Amino acid sequence: MAEVIILPDHAAVAREAADLWLALAARAVAERGSFNVALSGGSTPRPLFELLASEPYATSAPWEHTYVFWADERRVPPGDPASNYGMAAHLLLSHVPVPRTQVYRMDGEGLANSASRAYTTQLERHFSLGRGDWPRFDLILLGMGEDGHTASIFPGTRAVSDQSNRVLVYEVPKLRAERMTLTLPVINHARHILFLVVGEAKAGVLRDVLLGDYRPSTYPAQAVKLVDGSLVWLVDEAAAARLPRE
Ligand code: 6PG
Repeated sequence: MAEVIILPDHAAVAREAADLWLALAARAVAERGSFNVALSGGSTPRPLFELLASEPYATSAPWEHTYVFWADERRVPPGDPASNYGMAAHLLLSHVPVPRTQVYRMDGEGLANSASRAYTTQLERHFSLGRGDWPRFDLILLGMGEDGHTASIFPGTRAVSDQSNRVLVYEVPKLRAERMTLTLPVINHARHILFLVVGEAKAGVLRDVLLGDYRPSTYPAQAVKLVDGSLVWLVDEAAAARLPRE
């Protein structure tokens, strides 16, 4: 089982995640001169983004050497309340000195194929990818839905089995809406993954994902298995309520 750190509440999960972000960013910049991070959306990361925008993180993290991508995006313009980019820009990026040229927004409003091609090209250029290469993010922040989805890889969809694309835009049947997402091979080549999961509503799916049979089409979060990296679940007591406790 991946490392699971159980913390008292959502605020404690955000603090632990902020401290890990700081440590991973410092190490990445020291070793490679940059920190490449991909963000998720939803409600769970909000307190983390607010914390990173406050002291000591706002002045101690290496923002000028940080490159911000997204794990997924809703197909809406950046000003839409549902925009993952919009949330991160409002809560974090407008408060820290990440150069705008180092923020790679997923195109939520363009045509599907051109949006996925454009983001793929940005990844290829930034990570100097050759054929068959995968980008290697220093950190990808992931959340998990009550249905076991992560990023925008939803149960029973072609996103679960896509092993060739780097970015996918597709219609999610249950949402009756398009989503844009990094694919599992990209996610699984990250150096570090932090899953942030809080709240009692996630207790059942968290137990199933961590301890149940391996059924990635049912629980896509189970398919997050790093090729060469560390996967840590940061969960609060409420979400951990149905995990065995020694
Ligand atoms: C998104 C996210 C998605 C999210 C989960 C959990 O675009 O919605 O990337 O994968 O992490 O749906 O969402 P909550 O944090 O709101 O529970």
